[in-house]
Amino acid sequence: MEAGYYMTAHLMMAVGGAVLGSLQFGYNTGVINAPQKVIEDFYNKTWLFRYEEPVTRSTLTTLWSLSVAIFSVGGMVGSFSVGLFVNRFGRRNSMLMSNSLAFVASVLMGFSKMAYSFEMLILGRFVIGLYSGLTTGFVPMYVGEVSPTALRGALGTLHQLGIVVGILIAQVFGLDSIMGNESLWPLLLGFVFIPALMQCILLPFAPESPRFLLINRNEENKAKSVLKKLRGTTDVSSDLQEMKEESRQMMREKKVTIMELFRSPMYRQPILIAMVLQLSQQLSGINAIFYYSTSIFDKSGVEQPVYATIGSGVVNTAFTVVSLFVVERAGRRTLHLIGLAGMAGCAVLMTIALVLLERLPWMSYLSIIAIFGFVAFFEIGPGPIPWFIVAELFSQGPRPAAFAVAGLSNWTSNFIVGMCFQYVADLCGPYVFIIFTVLLILFFIFTYFKVPETKGRTFDEIASGFRQGGASQSDNKTPDEFHSLGADSQV
Ligand code: GLC
Repeated sequence: MEAGYYMTAHLMMAVGGAVLGSLQFGYNTGVINAPQKVIEDFYNKTWLFRYEEPVTRSTLTTLWSLSVAIFSVGGMVGSFSVGLFVNRFGRRNSMLMSNSLAFVASVLMGFSKMAYSFEMLILGRFVIGLYSGLTTGFVPMYVGEVSPTALRGALGTLHQLGIVVGILIAQVFGLDSIMGNESLWPLLLGFVFIPALMQCILLPFAPESPRFLLINRNEENKAKSVLKKLRGTTDVSSDLQEMKEESRQMMREKKVTIMELFRSPMYRQPILIAMVLQLSQQLSGINAIFYYSTSIFDKSGVEQPVYATIGSGVVNTAFTVVSLFVVERAGRRTLHLIGLAGMAGCAVLMTIALVLLERLPWMSYLSIIAIFGFVAFFEIGPGPIPWFIVAELFSQGPRPAAFAVAGLSNWTSNFIVGMCFQYVADLCGPYVFIIFTVLLILFFIFTYFKVPETKGRTFDEIASGFRQGGASQSDNKTPDEFHSLGADSQV
């Protein structure tokens, strides 16, 4: 039984090598926040140098918004292209190859100042966005496919842990006294070559996904030997059995295209769930915090907003670790519900704090507590779960197409929040978080009624739950002993 498997060195190497990609994505999410002023200065100087007049305020705002948001445009394109690579080159090689994008981005961003070219920086942000979009498909897919069932959620959460650690590193490195200053910012942005290089060194030691080898390539012997190493045991018959069942199932299906995901009644429900969970992650408003926290803290009367931002990064990381340890015990559905409800509560607190701030200056403390709580609840469920649950909701055949659709929903909503938040915040004043509260309640209701529990169930069991017409919460057929034998002592 799966539950007996340990966290082996091979499995650790495979997952560790993969999540360096998640770290890269997180780093680039967080890196642009702190050095905004110094980079804007560079844009201004470059403009002056070229056109012999200072840039206008509105052109500068446009250039800056473009530099921030083009990352998510790259993400949309990248995430939607996942299917072009994973079945042709394999999961691991796709991850390896995508690093060429990170090297190109590093050169473009790192040398933009020297070349007096903000175009290079903006293009670099687009290219690293492409990389990140691909990563948000490749990594959860690969990690889901190499993990034993009982550890799939915990290891899947490592993708999110990679992201949040990347954000935190970027927040700290971006401090004025470290690299967020006039002379060192090109290095701060060019640093993306480091995780890329590390991944190029580590990944060749990681195996290809055994599911890819067996189901897509029909290379049973290779799949078996990879499984033995990953599981640290010679008896891998139950894993093989499960994959063969999936393989047989796949023979019966045609190749699953994106259109078929929506047409076939078998996939319609899981793809709807995958998409809504991505929306619940982004439209929760989390990136309003990660893109604009410094200005939110500033408006809430916090004295050292930059340090409060770093504080939110620390809380973010700490609670992802909490989720890592409880996800196999508490289950995905429960944690997602707790997270959404807690975030809604904190969004209400935040609104109260902002509304009362003028009369009661100590409300600034309440706003720090509210934001830290918001971030903590996010990482309990809505942060990690939507990423890895896509691998769980689909079997091998439809999985790449499902990742493309889910990734596109995620990145599009990420883009919308990134672009619109500041305008909407100006319009709504202290009431802006009410919008997120309403959305969070809607996502809570959806999750409560539609999302099945996937913990401890094999991919095939989950898929057949949907085949039999809708897997509700009560479909969790797995006995409790199964989970308690699982991740707890082994992660
Ligand atoms: C998730 C989101 C990402 C966000 C991060 C914050 O990974 O996908 O957009 O910035 O969490 O921790």
